[in-house]
Amino acid sequence: MHAYALVLFLHLLGLLTAAAAAALAFFAALQLRAAATTAEIARWARLTKAVVPAFPVATLLLLGSGAYLTQVGWGWTTPWIDAGIAGLALIVACGSGIEASRGRALEQEVRTAGMTARARALQRDPLAWSAKVTTLTLTLGVVFLMVIKPATLGSTLTLIVALVAGPLAAVPFWRSHDRVEQPVAERPLAASAPAPRTEG
Ligand code: HEM
Repeated sequence: MHAYALVLFLHLLGLLTAAAAAALAFFAALQLRAAATTAEIARWARLTKAVVPAFPVATLLLLGSGAYLTQVGWGWTTPWIDAGIAGLALIVACGSGIEASRGRALEQEVRTAGMTARARALQRDPLAWSAKVTTLTLTLGVVFLMVIKPATLGSTLTLIVALVAGPLAAVPFWRSHDRVEQPVAERPLAASAPAPRTEG
């Protein structure tokens, strides 16, 4: 068996690991966004924390195997490879930088003060959601780069499109959603109680 093909398999294993973890993390993020109680926040934050360790493993797998493939078959000045490395760095910055720090802020707020207005704002934080969706558009962009292998202009444009598309696609997730804002348990009882009888 050719070593190059085996390493390419490991490279794709890294991509599959990242994709599976990203799907679970996105599901957890949607549940966190809709959570109405501190218990729900804690529950979905636990799923996020369980999934997060898969990301550095996937990153190292992609980077290590990618470095071998580059060294053996392509060279380090190949435009789509350099753009791929930049894309991976941006994914890490968005995910474990911006998004993770906003997630920690939400958890901290809920733990110390409960479901405050700030906590509800953090559930729909524009920066966190833009960073999250941008990790997905960048991943798609890097897959495009690796498969199509464009020249410098095409590689640069691919990254730019991914960086613009991410925050745009995130808008529906950070827009206000009144139905979610008012926790059911905190609704005034009078709102759901039947009207008093006035006969007699
Ligand atoms: C988010 C990160 C990455 C993703 C999603 C990704 C995805 C892929 C995919 C899907 C392929 C298969 C392409 C094909 O067979 O046509 C591939 C191949 C390859 N990748 Fe990556 N990759 C990533 C990061 C990297 C990095 C950081 C490097 C370099 C350090 C790299 C170097 C390569 C090389 C050299 C190939 C072999 C291309 C070939 O032989 O046709 N990749 N990658």
